[in-house]
Amino acid sequence: MFEQLDMAPADPILGLSAAFKSDSNSDKINLSVGVYQDSSGQTPIFASVKTAEQRVLAAEKTKSYLSIEGTSEYGTAVQELLLGSTHEILASERAVTIQSPGGTGALRIAGDFLARHFGDKPIWISEPTWANHPKIFSAAGLQVETYPYFDTDTNSLDHEALLEALDQIPTGHIVLLHGCCHNPSGVDPDSPTWEAIAEIVTKRGLLPLIDFAYQGLGDGVDPDASGLRIISNTSSELLIASSFSKNFGLYKERVGALTLVGANAEAAAKALSHLKIAVRTSYSNPPAHGSAIVSEILGDAKLSSQWEDEVTQMRERIRDMRRRLVEELKTRNPARDFSFIEHQRGMFSFSGLNDKQVTALRERYSVYIVGGGRINVAGLTEANLDYFADAVASVL
Ligand SMILES: Cc1ncc(COP(=O)(O)O)c(C=O)c1O
Repeated sequence: MFEQLDMAPADPILGLSAAFKSDSNSDKINLSVGVYQDSSGQTPIFASVKTAEQRVLAAEKTKSYLSIEGTSEYGTAVQELLLGSTHEILASERAVTIQSPGGTGALRIAGDFLARHFGDKPIWISEPTWANHPKIFSAAGLQVETYPYFDTDTNSLDHEALLEALDQIPTGHIVLLHGCCHNPSGVDPDSPTWEAIAEIVTKRGLLPLIDFAYQGLGDGVDPDASGLRIISNTSSELLIASSFSKNFGLYKERVGALTLVGANAEAAAKALSHLKIAVRTSYSNPPAHGSAIVSEILGDAKLSSQWEDEVTQMRERIRDMRRRLVEELKTRNPARDFSFIEHQRGMFSFSGLNDKQVTALRERYSVYIVGGGRINVAGLTEANLDYFADAVASVL
């Protein structure tokens, strides 16, 4: 039976990492996959994570299953991180949270739930977006539509086109928004634009699904939640998919959460009962280890503040690399303006390189970046910056 199958294409992002591994060029650079590297090119384990992990292991008494939705401590910690501990949504118990394997798990459970109960309503995603988004939602059975987001002429948000397109989406449809640090563009709406988005979403009765995979990597843990808080102040119903892969460095532990806000506690409880069915028929119940680490950190003021400091260091290093990259590119190619890279936020940057230049970078310099020109700025270090800037200048 299996001989009849065609070979499926490699994943556009993880497939590049496989090619990178087998590349023998000692100068090779992988700026494709969204993994943070420190100044020595390592993806470190946070000190706060190590401490929490030791405590979790020492206290662990059983490996028995968690409940389908995961632990309540984790759910509460996630909700407070998203909305702040005093938010009305928490007080009125309008939010429910399930613990998921990564942000991807949360997005897929959201997709399964929405397809099953609101399957006639398409999901609208930004163009461009994370390459996995359309695949996750199509696999769940949702029809996927796109709205414009990025202006390639100015390398910034296409404010007008975005708002105009959102204002045309039919009532009840689902709109996927990136909470912060838009992947792949690195371009986020400012507060007035979030307000305008919130107004349209409410006016048209759209259901927002906020993908929040980079909390803390833009302006800070709390400031990065400002967009989703603006939306949650006006939309009575929404979903939020959190990932703790990047901001806790817990990539392989697969830690995430899906939070659903209902118009009231009863509606949220009903929705939770269906989310649990989606989980039960997918992976049954969540992995415990990574989420226990997150709960331990967020439940301890000292550890929490250490974690925030570590996120700050990460964010500042990325900012510094953005600034230095712009400088290096300017020295090599003064005629071209790369200053937009400095204004983009989070791990990624749309470099402005076209697919031909991306291929040339890979074939001639063993520099791996995703088609469309997205670079992971967090993969640049003092040691590889010059080589990268030379390679870019040469393919330009
Ligand atoms: C926009 C976005 N959403 C969600 C995810 C999912 O992250 P994970 O499943 O690794 O937690 C990623 C990871 O790269 C992402 O970039």
